[in-house]
Amino acid sequence: MKNKYVEIEKRDGIAIIWMDEQDSKINKIGPDMIDTFNPMMDELENDSEVRAAVMISRKKDFIAGADIEAFANVKKEGDWQPIAKKGHEILDRIQNSKKPIVAAINGACMGAGLEIALACSARVASDNPKTIMALPEVKLGLLPGGGGTQRLPRLVGIQKALDMMLTGKNVFAYPAKKMGLVDRIATKEALLDAAIVLANQIAKAPLKREDKRSGMEKFLEGNPITRNIIFKKAKEMVDRQTNGNYPAPYEIMECVKVGMSSGLKKGYAEEVKRFEKLILTPESFQLRGIFFAMTEKKKNPQAELARKTDTIAMVGAGFMGAGIAQVSAAKDVRVLLKDIKQETLTQARQTVWKDIGKKVKRKAMPQLDADRLMNRITGQLDYNNFEKVDVLIEAVFEDMKVKHMVMKECEEHLSKDAIFASNTSALPITEIAKASKRPEQVIGMHYFSPVPKMPLLEIVVTDQTADWVTSTCYDLGVRQGKTVIVVKDGPGFYTTRILAPLMGEALNMLDEGADALQIDKALKKFGFPVGPITLMDEVGIDVGYHIMTGDLIQHFIATRKGVKTSDGITKMYEAKYYGRKNKKGFYKYDENGKNMRELDDNVYSFFGGNNRKKFDDKEIYERIGMSMVSEAALCLQEGIIANPLDGDVGAVFGLGFPPFRGGPFRYMDTLGLQATVDKFNELAKNHGDRFLPPQILLDKAKAGETFYS
Ligand SMILES: NC(=O)c1ccc[n+]([C@@H]2O[C@H](COP(=O)([O-])OP(=O)(O)OC[C@H]3O[C@@H](n4cnc5c(N)ncnc54)[C@H](O)[C@@H]3O)[C@@H](O)[C@H]2O)c1
Repeated sequence: MKNKYVEIEKRDGIAIIWMDEQDSKINKIGPDMIDTFNPMMDELENDSEVRAAVMISRKKDFIAGADIEAFANVKKEGDWQPIAKKGHEILDRIQNSKKPIVAAINGACMGAGLEIALACSARVASDNPKTIMALPEVKLGLLPGGGGTQRLPRLVGIQKALDMMLTGKNVFAYPAKKMGLVDRIATKEALLDAAIVLANQIAKAPLKREDKRSGMEKFLEGNPITRNIIFKKAKEMVDRQTNGNYPAPYEIMECVKVGMSSGLKKGYAEEVKRFEKLILTPESFQLRGIFFAMTEKKKNPQAELARKTDTIAMVGAGFMGAGIAQVSAAKDVRVLLKDIKQETLTQARQTVWKDIGKKVKRKAMPQLDADRLMNRITGQLDYNNFEKVDVLIEAVFEDMKVKHMVMKECEEHLSKDAIFASNTSALPITEIAKASKRPEQVIGMHYFSPVPKMPLLEIVVTDQTADWVTSTCYDLGVRQGKTVIVVKDGPGFYTTRILAPLMGEALNMLDEGADALQIDKALKKFGFPVGPITLMDEVGIDVGYHIMTGDLIQHFIATRKGVKTSDGITKMYEAKYYGRKNKKGFYKYDENGKNMRELDDNVYSFFGGNNRKKFDDKEIYERIGMSMVSEAALCLQEGIIANPLDGDVGAVFGLGFPPFRGGPFRYMDTLGLQATVDKFNELAKNHGDRFLPPQILLDKAKAGETFYS
């Protein structure tokens, strides 16, 4: 049998089901594919020569997941349930087949892919570090809708299953074996043979699995009363982490709860019903939108102009430099890591080593790959080999004089084709480029901290930057695993610029007597991962001071009516409050720099004294949140960002704008543009002209448009 999705080969009584979706790079599960499973099962069951089967992929991944685009066709209740029910029936057929099917997993086995593997009689995974198993539906505001909420807890226990489903995290082969998610591990090359051996074995006698749960897990999961404790704790964790903004985790818990107390059938029914309910939520709509945007941004719009990058120079081996070196070396780029201090170079190597060491420990990276990665980074104090550099990225101190000096010195040693990129957070690239012999080869590559974790790269181009330079840096960013946006040079570019009014309004509210803890809490309630006060401590109050007193604020004052600036941050800076870095900030820190979640007793002395008053949470998050939203619209109006999509991607991936709100532009579209105008007018009336609606918003509202229309 051969069709668009699978081909069946028979070898000595074993049917090998090759998953290989034609005209697609990946195997994914969509409504069409589900239809091909029944004839496949008919063939297996009707062929008396076949004793058992192995399901394996011809692609680099097993199955990447469900076809998310198919969800866009679900417009109302009842649109998805028939498809889901069909999916459940076929998965049941796989699970109950008299001829056992073994899943042979190499590469990504995600979402619906893992749910198929869970329905199989057993699973063998390759030890390839790219082999990852996950139920990541929660990240799209959904739940595992193909039996995952029922089969997974029965296989690995309720607590481990909830951990996987509520976080969507990746599980690598060895931890998967340890928790009982897979039964065997083989090398990639021996995977098929190992699965055939296991299939033959199960065809003779069912596999006996040992319960891998700990004594405590067994105790807690063993009866309804203690099980309730598990769900209560899980709910508390979800409440804490999401502030109730995301419905999916609650629906996942409910499915597991019903399934474990009332049986599989009821559990499946809950899953079908609740999955459809989630598809129709605005939260899932926005999260899926972000997923598509991320996929879209992986494509370099001017790919044909990109030049090859084999070697980069990373100048400045501080916190940012070490991170950029790491993500580059991880993708086969040779890195010349230069600093002026030997101890910084040593420290940078240790930082990288510590981070990848964690991956080695989790068996997510073989030791050999880690050694190779380290070998690609050469620490140096001189300019040795700089003539081989394709792209130089500087992350030296945030000081124009230092940047100019570094540029002049480096250009002496670089080839004429080398690109000079700056990781500055706010200094104008045009100004930096003034010291260059080749300003068309100067660009901003603004990474976020910590670099290995933060997904965004903001590329900043000046009027002179050549297109091939932008394109080459775009490719490099994608290779480093980043989601890339390209913005125009201007004070604060895009991300720092929209962050500044948010921070500024938080400081204004402190001046008005607001409580710093309440501000943080209110913004988390709105959906930011951390509040602005914590963020100022994290980024550094010194950095905040430079931004809040520098060019960017001058730009705001010059171009905006009624801009209000607090001098609290200057006072803090002068009193040497730099935030977490010197353990002296808004919050108290222990000797290891851990935030004690308690305010420094002295902090209100910079903001008018200890007499604090309570504000309405809504007023706090509207004033502070809408300051960012308004600035984003102004960036579009001024052409700093090219389109709303870049604005949303930048705000969500760079600054943690609540993903379930889709970004500032999707948020305005959802509110309705006229309603947004009204909201800004109301804020302006109560709190000053700085809230007056941007012209672009007024125009679009008047024309009855949306930002995405
Ligand atoms: N820390 C952040 O969160 C963050 C985020 C985005 C961008 N940035 C930007 O990145 C840059 C670096 O920030 P950081 O936090 O890594 O600072 P850092 O102080 O940790 O590192 C700066 C490094 O530059 C080195 N250096 C100074 N002069 C040099 C020279 N002439 N040649 C070579 N090395 C030199 C220093 O020895 C130091 O190791 C700044 O421009 C900053 O604005 C920082």
